[in-house]
Amino acid sequence: MDYFAERIKSIRKSDIRKIFDSAPSGSINLGLGEIQFPTPKIITGYAKEVIDKGNIPYTPNAGLIELRKKVADYYHTEFCDNVCITVGAEEALFTTLFCYLNPDDEVMLANPTFLAYKTIIEMVGGKPVYFDLDPDNNFKLIRNSFIKSITSRTKMIILNNPSNPLGICFDADETDFIIKICKEKNILILVDEVYRELFLEKRPKSFMEFDGDIIVVSSLSKSHCMTGWRLGWAVSPKKELIEPIINIHQFVCTCAPFISQKAAIKALSEEGVAEKEKIRKKLVSNRKSAVEFIEKNIPDAKILSNSSSPYLFINFCIDDILLTNDLLKEGLIVIPGSAFGSNGKNWIRISYAVEKNILIKGLEVIRNRLYREKL
Ligand SMILES: Cc1ncc(COP(=O)(O)O)c(C=O)c1O
Repeated sequence: MDYFAERIKSIRKSDIRKIFDSAPSGSINLGLGEIQFPTPKIITGYAKEVIDKGNIPYTPNAGLIELRKKVADYYHTEFCDNVCITVGAEEALFTTLFCYLNPDDEVMLANPTFLAYKTIIEMVGGKPVYFDLDPDNNFKLIRNSFIKSITSRTKMIILNNPSNPLGICFDADETDFIIKICKEKNILILVDEVYRELFLEKRPKSFMEFDGDIIVVSSLSKSHCMTGWRLGWAVSPKKELIEPIINIHQFVCTCAPFISQKAAIKALSEEGVAEKEKIRKKLVSNRKSAVEFIEKNIPDAKILSNSSSPYLFINFCIDDILLTNDLLKEGLIVIPGSAFGSNGKNWIRISYAVEKNILIKGLEVIRNRLYREKL
């Protein structure tokens, strides 16, 4: 007996999930794409007040108008009709792809990039097609490869800016190039900006600032340590690109949870933004400690120079799968770069979004493993 739909048969557990599942209990976790700090108290406190009032209703499908206005303000646009509040960025991605992909439509993805894009594209019947970022040149866009990945079936491109796992953004030339080509070829641009607020020095430009057929998704998961609240959005300079998303979102989940939407209004207030800044600065300080440790203790390691938290992408000059498996046995979880695409081979993604003492303990496990290797 087999009740499963054909479309889910090829969907497998992600490599990252397999690593977590095989980790010994009590492992140090530098693998999670989650900022492992608590949600700021002003947000949880406000949510408690909302709960105590007792009335927890549905909201309009696209979200509370006050929150949509706040999100519109964040992008310096006055149009709250261009915003759909979603259940995290993940639902925004799913709903957008569901709205725009026909069977066999092709979607361009960077190699390497965030794993979930491929799976969601396949879930809705589309086909991922990869273009290369150059591991030998700070993962810069290889323009030839970009052009070659475009076919008559290309419908969309998904960019992750800043990137998971790289922590880099496309520079101004690369961005202009991508937008120009996509305009010429009628390719819809979907940009995932969930890491935008975790910049090291300068907040990157949002793609909302550019002209074109562009949809941006983002969330409060990373910026405000609110992963479990499941609060994100899809937004576009063009209202007509968001309208079908609001329509489908209604049938996926009706609306994002009321309590989370209220909490999000607090998160996007002046006080909430100040809390977000504290999180960002804590990450910058963690990063500094991690880089100092590695430079001092593992001088052969090549750390990718990037501009956003919470990941270091590091080449330890050793096979990434071998190293990850060895570290797992020693009770440390990190993610092999090749899990994100073949160009990530021999790189390791390390999250430094944990308390500093845990971070250093984790890095000591790596140093000890590599030091043993060299004896
Ligand atoms: C690039 C990227 N996009 C989206 C998500 C999911 O974000 P959310 O919690 O808002 O669904 C993640 C989570 O790790 C991510 O790394």
